[in-house]
Amino acid sequence: MSTCTRCRLHQGRKNAVPGEGNPRADILLVGEGPGAEEDAQGRPFVGKAGRLLTRMLAAIDLAREEVFITNIVKCRPPQNRNPLPDEAEACFPYLRRQIELVDPLVIVCLGGPAAQRLTGSVLGITRLRGRFHTFLDHPVLPTYHPAAVLRFPEKYKRPVWDDLKMLRSFYRESRT
Ligand code: URA
Repeated sequence: MSTCTRCRLHQGRKNAVPGEGNPRADILLVGEGPGAEEDAQGRPFVGKAGRLLTRMLAAIDLAREEVFITNIVKCRPPQNRNPLPDEAEACFPYLRRQIELVDPLVIVCLGGPAAQRLTGSVLGITRLRGRFHTFLDHPVLPTYHPAAVLRFPEKYKRPVWDDLKMLRSFYRESRT
């Protein structure tokens, strides 16, 4: 990925951000794309939203190191805009391969772009979240992006907590 030129996003990157975590994780999380901090470090979710994500995982007794964290696109979109459809398509073989290799029990989509790409739906995140979908034989649970929770906590904190509890129940049941 560090030498990839499949889409225009390579032009602005300092570092590709492939993802990180447990290569045998039960839970794989997919965000949108790297921001400034992630681009600088080459690691996913290390900025403000990332710190909240780490706390969200801790709230359901998961350490960041236990899960695998990646994004729809592996290079930073300019001005942190959403990935464009052709960028998401160009990058998709990487994510598909990551899903095949990690083979998680469940995939969590953080925000609309990841949810739409992995459910194949054009519905917004508010309609997609809170229930399970399927992608490549894997259960997929979309929820709001932690950046949305940071911006509008009174609106998104409660539904995200509901989704996290759903994730925790599913995960506990699948493991027993
Ligand atoms: N937001 C994302 O969607 N991904 C990251 O890696 C960081 C912030």
